[in-house]
Amino acid sequence: MNAIAIRGRGLVKRFDDVIAVDGLDLEVRSGECFGLLGPNGAGKTTTVEMLEGLQSPTAGEIEILGRRWDRQATRLRQRLGIQLQQSEFQDKLTVLETVRLFRSFYERGWSAEQAIQTVSLQEKARAYVRKLSGGQKQRLSLACALVGEPEILFLDEPTTGLDPQSRLRIWDVVAAFRQRGGTVLLTTHYMEEAERLCDRVAIIDRGKVIALGSPAELIGSLRADHVVELELESPLAPETLAVLDEVLAVGEENGTLRLTVRHPHRAVPLLLGELERRGAKLTRLATHHATLEDVFVELTGRHLRDS
Ligand SMILES: Nc1ncnc2c1ncn2[C@@H]1O[C@H](COP(=O)(O)OP(=O)(O)OP(=O)(O)O)[C@@H](O)[C@H]1O
Ligand SMILES: [Mg+2]
Repeated sequence: MNAIAIRGRGLVKRFDDVIAVDGLDLEVRSGECFGLLGPNGAGKTTTVEMLEGLQSPTAGEIEILGRRWDRQATRLRQRLGIQLQQSEFQDKLTVLETVRLFRSFYERGWSAEQAIQTVSLQEKARAYVRKLSGGQKQRLSLACALVGEPEILFLDEPTTGLDPQSRLRIWDVVAAFRQRGGTVLLTTHYMEEAERLCDRVAIIDRGKVIALGSPAELIGSLRADHVVELELESPLAPETLAVLDEVLAVGEENGTLRLTVRHPHRAVPLLLGELERRGAKLTRLATHHATLEDVFVELTGRHLRDS
């Protein structure tokens, strides 16, 4: 049995009339990579910042590595690496100076050079922070989070806005950190990132955990491996397709009908036959393997991202 590295119980955060986090329970095991997946405004950052000791909860209890923020904050900080969703660095410092500054906050850890190398930023070591690209800044903030050799790494949307190559590089750094036994709590709204990196995922919506499990378990909960999406020239009630064999569920969003099916090779011909009988004209048909995005859509009727 793994120890619990991060525990939040009954977490609530209220900002005036906004309830950002609404009674959230969370347990991250030691050595695990745990993901918070949810749309904009779901409460991911607020949750993570409470766990990091940067915001105080309106209600609820937090234990990190068996310790509490109100009593052992200084000792605790030494064991955590934190990457914020948006990091503000000193423009007038170089990359190397910035990482050295972060290193100075920790009693032990890597050399700044080592941290910079880990995120492949050696070429920019002498560059001023203001001259870095967005992806390079992300890597710098990861170096700052890693330089104290933390036991837990908190990453708030580590790859948002990055090109695919930079994203892969960050995934590699996270994987290497875990191989050394580290625990990771990350937030993302990239389902692929959650599927690739996380042992377990909590899907968050409106400040609550609405589903929890390994990516495979969550996708398995759909009871169907595939999703068929179709668009028609004129609207058709989703119920008309729900009665077909092979179709497990039908949803509709912005004119797109979304069907979960077990066997696309059997479902699609049935579907096309039915549409023809009804004189409905297809304008788009696509099928894909079910993803965490589909789990979210199934649970909420909405997409994680607007795109
Ligand atoms: N300091 C604050 N004052 C008032 N409202 C806030 C504050 N911080 C967050 N909120 C609100 O709390 C809710 C949750 O915000 P949060 O930043 O935690 O979401 P998120 O899941 O991290 O979203 P994103 O994916 O956009 O980063 C939002 O409605 C937000 O407007
Ligand atoms: Mg956020």
